[in-house]
Amino acid sequence: MDKLLITGGRPLAGDVRISGAKNAALPVLIASLLTADPLIIRNIPHLHDITTTLELLGELGVRLEIDEKMSITADAGDITRLRAPYDLVKTMRASILVLGPLLARFGEAEVSLPGGCAIGSRPVNLHIKGFEAMGAEVVIESGYIRARCKRLRGARIFMDTISVTGTENLMMAAALADGETVIENAAREPEVVDLATCLNAMGAKIHGAGTHLITIQGVNRLHGAAHNVIPDRIEAGTYLVAAMVTSGAIKLHDIDSSLLESVLDKLTESGADIKIEGRTISLDMRGRRPRAVNIRTAPFPAFPTDMQAQFVMMNSIAEGVGTVTETVFENRFMHVHELQRMGADIDMESNTAVVRGVDHLTGAPVMATDLRASACLVLAGLVARNETIIDRIYHIDRGYDCIEEKLAQIGAQIRRVPGDQMEARTAVA
Ligand code: UD1
Repeated sequence: MDKLLITGGRPLAGDVRISGAKNAALPVLIASLLTADPLIIRNIPHLHDITTTLELLGELGVRLEIDEKMSITADAGDITRLRAPYDLVKTMRASILVLGPLLARFGEAEVSLPGGCAIGSRPVNLHIKGFEAMGAEVVIESGYIRARCKRLRGARIFMDTISVTGTENLMMAAALADGETVIENAAREPEVVDLATCLNAMGAKIHGAGTHLITIQGVNRLHGAAHNVIPDRIEAGTYLVAAMVTSGAIKLHDIDSSLLESVLDKLTESGADIKIEGRTISLDMRGRRPRAVNIRTAPFPAFPTDMQAQFVMMNSIAEGVGTVTETVFENRFMHVHELQRMGADIDMESNTAVVRGVDHLTGAPVMATDLRASACLVLAGLVARNETIIDRIYHIDRGYDCIEEKLAQIGAQIRRVPGDQMEARTAVA
């Protein structure tokens, strides 16, 4: 298994281009199932989760063409299967998103139940409840969700917890339902808005995306379109924190600052000089150490849970004490134990990490447990004295486009070592 080797202690400085957003690209790719015409999607990031999605779409019979700039044409004119198998769903929970489009267009779908994951139990009850409200018959059998309907009909759906993929799944299904659907307490994330923009370009009638009340007038058919995926606000936030913790300076390109206002606010409070010009964000620490900040994660536009681990890391070398409270997922602090092994001073009090900044961290062999936890360990490695070896980096490849190339370009000492070479190195040592 590949590992990342990082030698810390260099301030990062330079320019980074932000890739398309993983969490926007996945639902938009899956939206291709809603039409028999080709859908062209641009600005797709190079990520393992994208490969998994393409594999899943291929398995269902979608024809895919990919050009060298990662523009993808997805043609779901000849769907041959209506089943998302366990092997694909278990590696990527977002596979559940095929349920809504398949059910709406073909009246039938089968998707493996995703099960739990490192960050909590992550149920899909809200997706199922929504489809039932739209007239589908849903049963759970042999680990699969099996759903059937004649034609979905519009319904008023209240989501008692705000769910991003839940809102997206129901919005896609409602686009082809008979009549009007209203989703109350909908997720307001920019990725939901991006999906609605794509669906509307395909002929859907969706209003209110980006607010808590989304109204969808169902149509009989959707057609092909071309869509550009929005930039990845979590990738952008992660690079900004990389510059913060190394007391460096960075300029991000192809980013929209309105996507990450809550993160930029906290970085400013922590001592960064931030300048926004057009589609760029510049951050300069002028050699200073960050100050600790208090964070509370919540659905958009509040502070994103996907940036929580990176801020725990930042607080761990900041001046002062900061608290980080996680309210979205029940078990999202796996990175804390690994940071403690590198010398961080963190106490857990229920769902709050109390982080006392220390002068320095020391490199250690550490293990990535989930996508954002692994980003936090990369950041820790960039600051730590000596060498950090990060194992199980397949988690990083799920969500960060060319991370070691992008970091090396701004001065990081980072390299990927294949597992067998690593074993040889240990044997020699
Ligand atoms: C999406 C993002 C993920 C991000 C998360 C929260 C994608 C592909 N992934 O995940 O990166 O961390 O939003 O911003 O877009 N819940 C239920 N029942 C359900 C669905 C969700 O109780 O049927 C709960 C979850 O357990 C969690 C909360 O709702 O506590 C929010 O989860 P949700 O927004 O659904 O996360 P995802 O859409 O899976």
